[in-house]
Amino acid sequence: MSAAAVYYDPFDPVVMADPYPTYQALRKAAPVYWSDAGRCWVLSRHSDVTSALHDPSTFSSASGVFPTVGAPSMADLFLPMLIMTDPPRHTAMRRIVSRAFTPRRIATLEAGIQELIEGLLDDASSHETWDAVEALTAPLPAIVIADLLGVPREDRDSFRRWSTQLIQSQPQSPRIGGALEAAAALYDYFASFLAERRIRPRDDLMSALVEAEVEGQRLSEDELLGFCFLLLVAGHETTTNLLSNSLVALAGEPDARHAMADDPQLLPRAVEELLRYDSPVQGLSRTLTRSTTMHGQDLEPGDVVLLLFGSANRDEQVFPAADRLDIHRSAEQHLALGHGVHFCLGASLARLEARSALQALLSRHRDWEVDEESAVRLQSGPIRGFATLPFRPIAGTWRVR
Ligand code: HEM
Repeated sequence: MSAAAVYYDPFDPVVMADPYPTYQALRKAAPVYWSDAGRCWVLSRHSDVTSALHDPSTFSSASGVFPTVGAPSMADLFLPMLIMTDPPRHTAMRRIVSRAFTPRRIATLEAGIQELIEGLLDDASSHETWDAVEALTAPLPAIVIADLLGVPREDRDSFRRWSTQLIQSQPQSPRIGGALEAAAALYDYFASFLAERRIRPRDDLMSALVEAEVEGQRLSEDELLGFCFLLLVAGHETTTNLLSNSLVALAGEPDARHAMADDPQLLPRAVEELLRYDSPVQGLSRTLTRSTTMHGQDLEPGDVVLLLFGSANRDEQVFPAADRLDIHRSAEQHLALGHGVHFCLGASLARLEARSALQALLSRHRDWEVDEESAVRLQSGPIRGFATLPFRPIAGTWRVR
């Protein structure tokens, strides 16, 4: 195939339904591709995406990382955010938030996460068919982030409503008004929450963030608020769609399901493979700070470059038989959680949620179907997943716990 024969529009719903054949064509014939529709360069090979992630002084995050055409994305409208900061400020900010966002804090969430999942599954199991998004994959990360931040139980419902409104809308969508209202409500909520933590610190992430100081530096008020928003945006839909995509992928893989149900030790490796196989974050962008030449193409300062994690994760040069889901492979080199300085801060939390949800589901039943025909796909540039996903445990496979 020649480069001229490849056409890629990151926002085309047909491509979103199954982008993998297009990615393969890009990797093969046009590893540095100019997308008129996306108004950006597109990198699709694992080696190129990895190199770009390792070179933040050339591939900058400061002008935003969420690919959109024209208007900035919801996430870009806000406050200073770690994910949109370059070193050296990024290094200092990341050190400060890492001090609050510790493995110990994540580990304390584990029992609560398991209890939450069991409760969600109990509620869902009274129905024959459920919308997996509504019943399980969306509420789980939303409630976990609320708990992580220290949002009290009585505020959970409002918090969930606002965060869903905020996250599910794109600037061009008719729901933008609701999203802006939700953003304003969350802003006020977080601001008063932070003020309260300054006066009466507790053992929660917000208090730790307010107090965290590294080498005499603290986060500014705007950076603190920006971090709260970032946790919502970065930790919510991503985890939801890792789970939704996993339910779909595993629906067609009875052997994998049964193996995991029989031996939960397989789950950590399986979660890495599920992250690789159908990555919730298909791509994020960078902006060039200087000219560079890649595969014979000259790229100029100010050019936007889309890094296709979803394609890198199907690169046959790194993952043999890349289009096959194989829960026994070691998929550690996947880029689903990014790489380099911006590597996902919530990686261990995302892995914990995915492992716990799959284990709980598989311990109740080994077999299920999803109705992909009636499912509604998200129409979001970077995020691959579902708005609704009809899910049905296959009769006779429920287990008595
Ligand atoms: C399956 C779920 C998740 C996926 C696929 C995912 C993916 C990613 C990716 C690809 C990046 C790199 C961004 C870049 O290079 O520009 C990232 C960064 C980040 N993620 Fe996640 N994420 C997930 C869950 C979470 C969770 C649960 C949280 C927190 C509650 C979180 C918080 C963050 C933060 C704060 C960053 C920015 C780190 C930085 O800029 O230094 N993520 N994530």
